[in-house]
Amino acid sequence: MRVQLFYVFATTLVIVWTSTFADAARRGQPMYKFEIFGSTSTRFPRFIRENGINRNLTEFTLCMWLKVSSLVSSTEYPFSYATQRFHNELLTFLESTDDGHPSVGMFINDVSHKFAIVCPTFSLGDWHRVCYAWRSVDGFAMIVVDPDKDPCEVTMTDFAKGKMIQLGGTISLGQEQTFPGGGFTLDQSFDGEYTEVQMFSEILDTEQIFRISTCLSCEVDRSYNYEEQEIRGDIIDWMNHGFVGYDGGVISGTNVCR
Ligand SMILES: *[C@@H]1O[C@H](CO)[C@@H](O)[C@H](O)[C@H]1NC(C)=O
Repeated sequence: MRVQLFYVFATTLVIVWTSTFADAARRGQPMYKFEIFGSTSTRFPRFIRENGINRNLTEFTLCMWLKVSSLVSSTEYPFSYATQRFHNELLTFLESTDDGHPSVGMFINDVSHKFAIVCPTFSLGDWHRVCYAWRSVDGFAMIVVDPDKDPCEVTMTDFAKGKMIQLGGTISLGQEQTFPGGGFTLDQSFDGEYTEVQMFSEILDTEQIFRISTCLSCEVDRSYNYEEQEIRGDIIDWMNHGFVGYDGGVISGTNVCR
């Protein structure tokens, strides 16, 4: 009996210690952000990942936290993925509108396929969570802003239906590309910050998108193993992102997920 009690005690201790340890490890994980400020006609701060998408995609989900400092020009391009065949293979944009809230949108395979939403809650100077999802087979597309509070969402079908996003191109965060890795112009520069950029080779459902956007790394529960898998994109994993900063793109800490 004594021995059994001891085992119960020891097992409980291990469970409590393990989950506390995992909790602390993930909660305390240093979160960082990329800052893009002060583009000029000769200086284009950016974060680049060559071979940015390593497989042909017929569906994806791309999520990120964005803080837009200003809309320097009428349209900014936070995420630019350029291949040899299309410099706008996958491109996200923020376009100023008359009511002061930028429209949030994307292009696939060049600008003939354009899709956007205007969210009254999207403001400059604050962090917003933005997810874009698409699948080729029926052209289902979705953009969700702030899924965890004041959700703003739009879906459509027949968007770039039957198209494909080709592997091997270059991702640029901060500057729009006119060819892979270059062709930047001042009036297409992004001015602001990024964190938690995650990209998946699949469409996630609304529930999964909600979970990604709630900063799962600080919402650990006992099923943390399961969540761990969910928050890490298989195409882009923010904890292991592989981007290189150029021209003054700054990496710094952020408390946004603490
Ligand atoms: C990717 O798609 C291109 C066609 O655009 C094709 O030539 C290539 O073989 C594909 N690569 C893989 C690994 O599927």
